[in-house]
Amino acid sequence: MSPRITRRRLVLAAAAASTVIAASVAVIGTAEAASTLGASAAQSGRYFGAAIAAGRLGDSTYTRILNTEFNSVTPENEMKWDATEPQQGRFSFTNGDRILNQGLSNGSKVRGHALLWHAQQPGWAQSLSGTALRNAAINHVTQVAAHYKGKIYAWDVVNEAFADGGSGARRDSNLQRTGNDWIEAAFRAARAADPAAKLCYNDYNTDGINAKSTGIYNMVRDFKSRGVPIDCVGFQSHLGTGIDSSYQANLQRFADLGVDVQITELDVAQGGNQANIYATVTKACLAVSRCTGITVWGIRDTDSWRGGENPLLFDGSGNKKAAYTSVLNALNAGGTTTPPTTTPPTTNPPTGGACSATVTLNSWNGGYVANVRVTAGSAAVNGWTVTTTLPSGSAITGVWSATNTGTSGAVSFRNVAYNGQVPAGGSTEFGFQGTGTGPGTSLACAAA
Ligand code: XIL
Repeated sequence: MSPRITRRRLVLAAAAASTVIAASVAVIGTAEAASTLGASAAQSGRYFGAAIAAGRLGDSTYTRILNTEFNSVTPENEMKWDATEPQQGRFSFTNGDRILNQGLSNGSKVRGHALLWHAQQPGWAQSLSGTALRNAAINHVTQVAAHYKGKIYAWDVVNEAFADGGSGARRDSNLQRTGNDWIEAAFRAARAADPAAKLCYNDYNTDGINAKSTGIYNMVRDFKSRGVPIDCVGFQSHLGTGIDSSYQANLQRFADLGVDVQITELDVAQGGNQANIYATVTKACLAVSRCTGITVWGIRDTDSWRGGENPLLFDGSGNKKAAYTSVLNALNAGGTTTPPTTTPPTTNPPTGGACSATVTLNSWNGGYVANVRVTAGSAAVNGWTVTTTLPSGSAITGVWSATNTGTSGAVSFRNVAYNGQVPAGGSTEFGFQGTGTGPGTSLACAAA
């Protein structure tokens, strides 16, 4: 029985018990129904957030609604590549920090948006390609995630990398042309720089089971199977006047892969259905235990990037719209489940054959990311250790999908629980990141 039904039955039972205690029934209702979006979402362990703009924080109506209603914030533009690295290697965090501090001082979660995207790149990045762009992109991920280390609830590590339409394929972009592995390289770099942040892939036109969302689903499934660090998928949900009937089922199929799901940029064209569509999205999130929260893409209609469509929950004067009430009611009627936390997998007993290790290095001036592929020989291995000696001046700052001993000079990397078993001829990957110059190509591999 769902908690929603339980609660409704309790209220009905109380109401039926006696008309004399009608007043106390009203008290039960009042005590259960939170009066703001954030508090109401928090009843089921979720957040309700808004995209905000640093330039609007001086508007008192705006900040009043923000501080009252929302318990998560996303910078609408301030943490994008063009804003944070306007010149290569020169970082600018002033406005991003304003959003961060606004959120943290209000006790809100902060969603980071977005480390890599084909749009809103600085001019210098738009003119790069190949290895130079790949290195610049990974350095960007590393530096921005490191600046906000420990402060960000979830990062949109990669935004909008899939094509619209029926192909289910990647979108062509300068980043995609650096190699199909650019997305996983970005996730690994983000994990190394800020291990506490949940790492999300975020996209639009994924609001139902369709070719595009299936392409992303297949990527997430592949990442999970190979130990690429991904924790969540964001569904932007910029909606028109209808909603796909498979909206909830689509969220659920991603959650079933072992990632959180989040509604990240919700706005809905104003029309006859606006309030209903908002309620449908809210109920869908509440019905999926790994849907951890909802973010609307702006506060008032006049703050929206969809000028003239009035797609938000507050009108231009800051009044609550019917869509607001419908979301609040859905949250108050909704689930009381707490999204689960992930449990680590168990360890494998080590025994087995030989292995080899090859490294792919992304270097920039002063740092590097090393992705290492461990390949089993003609027999399966049940555990591995990779060793190398780093050049002088090099120090490891982060490791993923392995556990290291030492950070400079002679270092070794041991498999973690889920990637120790490699079938005969098969391979797995781990990586590390460091300052200075990366390792040479010859890494030794010993099977356990
Ligand atoms: C939009 C902002 O709202 C606008 O202010 C900006 O001019 C363009 O970008 N998908 C995303 C968001 O991931 O970053 C976009 O935000 C909207 C679409």
